[in-house]
Amino acid sequence: MEQQQNQFNPENLTVIILAAGKGQRMRSSLPKVLHPIGGKPMLAHVLEAANVLSPNQTIIVYGNGGETVIDAMSAYIDALNMNQVSWVEQKELLGTGDAVAKALPLVNPNNRVLVLLGDVPLITSNTLKRLLNTTDKDSLGVLTVKAKDPTGLGRIIRKRNKIVGIIEEKDASELEQQIHEVNTGIFALNQEFLAKYLPTLTNQNAQSEYYLTDLVKIAANNKISIQSSVPNVPEEVMGINNRVQQVELERYYQEKLADKYLQQGASILDPKRFDVRGSLTLGQDVIIDINAIFEGDNTIGNGVKIGPNCVLKNCIIGDNVEVYANSFLEDATISQDCKIGPYARIRPGTKLAKEVKVGNFVEIKASDISEKAKVNHLSYIGDAYIGARTNIGAGTITCNYDGQNKHKTKIGENVFIGSGTQLIAPVNVGNNAHVAAGSVLCKDAQANKLTLTHRLEHRDIEHKIINGATK
Ligand code: UD1
Ligand code: CA
Repeated sequence: MEQQQNQFNPENLTVIILAAGKGQRMRSSLPKVLHPIGGKPMLAHVLEAANVLSPNQTIIVYGNGGETVIDAMSAYIDALNMNQVSWVEQKELLGTGDAVAKALPLVNPNNRVLVLLGDVPLITSNTLKRLLNTTDKDSLGVLTVKAKDPTGLGRIIRKRNKIVGIIEEKDASELEQQIHEVNTGIFALNQEFLAKYLPTLTNQNAQSEYYLTDLVKIAANNKISIQSSVPNVPEEVMGINNRVQQVELERYYQEKLADKYLQQGASILDPKRFDVRGSLTLGQDVIIDINAIFEGDNTIGNGVKIGPNCVLKNCIIGDNVEVYANSFLEDATISQDCKIGPYARIRPGTKLAKEVKVGNFVEIKASDISEKAKVNHLSYIGDAYIGARTNIGAGTITCNYDGQNKHKTKIGENVFIGSGTQLIAPVNVGNNAHVAAGSVLCKDAQANKLTLTHRLEHRDIEHKIINGATK
C-alpha cells in the first residue's frame, strides 16, 4: 500500500477537464479531444482516469466542436456511471485560465479542484492520487516533468529550488527556453484560491490569452506554498497537439498493453505490430502473430492462435480456436476448437459451434453452423443454419437475397452438399441428404436421399477455331 498522509477526500473533489481548444495543429474537422488513442477518444481516457478518483463533481469545458463532443462522450460517461458530470461552454477560446473561470461558478465552495487537460490522454489515476496526496489543502500542486524535448511547453521557473512561476515558450527568454522541467498542465488547487485569483489574470502575453499557468507566480507572490510531483512515466503527461504526437502516443499505448498481455501469459510475436482498439481479454497461451487488430470488445479463450494480418471485431472466441492468416471476423461467436481461414470472412451474427472448419475464401453471414460442420472452400453462406457434421462442398452459394428480401436456408445434419451447389432460399435440406455437385436447389431436398437437379446434357460439338476464337 502506498503511504498516504494527507489523503484527499473524493467527497469534496471537483475535476475540471479543459477540452474547448481548437486543436488547429491536428488539421481535422473532428474536434481534437475526440481523436482516438486505442480506438477511444482522448477525452474518454481522461474521464476514465478521473473516474477512478470518484470525484463528487466533474466539469468538462467544451467549445470547439460544440455539442458533437457532448454527444460523442455520452456513451462513455454512461458506461463509467460517473457522479455528477456537467458541461460548460467556453464560446471564445481565451486561454486555459479563462476556461477554468467558466467552470468555476459550478464548483462546490471549499472543494479541492483537480485540473486536467483533454489533450493529455494517458494520465493515470495513480499519478493524480499522488499529486493530490502530496498537495496540502491550502497549497497549489503542480505536476511537472523533465522533458527530453521541452519544445512548445511551459517551463517551470525555480528559485532556490522552489517553484515560483511557469513561463510559456512563446514568452520565454532564450535562457528560460533551456529549462527542461515543464508544466504538464495538470494542477491541484482549491476553489477559494481560484475564486480569489482567477479574476486577477491578465492576457498581457505573446498569445493574448488568460494563462492558467500564471496562477503559479501569483501563488508565489502571495506566499501560498507550491508543491510539485511527477508522473510515473513521461508518456503519461504527453499532450497531443498534432498527428505526429498522436501516433507516437498510440504506439506507446499499444506496446504498454502488449506488455501487460505478455505478463499475463499470452505471446504477442511482435508488440510493435499489435493493435487493440477497444477492450480485449486474452486467455493463457494465446499466440498472436503480427499485424493483428482487435476492435471493439473481444474475448479470447485459452490456447487460441491468431495468424498474421487478422482483424477481430466484437468477437467471442472459445479455447484452442485457430484463426489463420488474413481472416476478418466481426460480431461473431466462435466455440472451442474451430479452425478458420486463411482468408475467411465471418460477418455479424455468425455462430460457430465447436470443431467447425471454415476454410479459405469463405464468407459466412448471420448463420448458425453446428458442431464439426465443414465449409472449406470458396463459399457464401448467409442467413443459414447448418447441422452437425455436414460438409459443404467448394463453391456452394446460399442465394439468400431475391433482390428485395432475405430468405433462410436450413441444412440438416450429416448432409453432403456437392461442389458448386446453389441453394435458392428459402430452402431446406433434410438430414443425411446428399446433394450432387452443380445442383441448383429451388425446392427442398429430402432427408436420406440423393438429390440431383436438371443439368445440361453433355454434348461435344464440332467447331473451328480461327485466330484463337471459336466460330
Ligand atoms: C498548455 C500549458 C503549458 C503546458 C501544456 C502541457 C497553458 C497556458 N499552457 O499548453 O504550460 O506545458 O499545456 O500540455 O496553460 N483549452 C481550453 N480553452 C482554451 C484554451 C485551451 O479549453 O481557451 C484546452 C485545450 O482544449 C487543451 C488544453 O486546454 O485540452 C491545453 O490547451 P493547449 O492550447 O493545447 O495548450 P498548450 O499550448 O499545449
Ligand atoms: Ca496541448
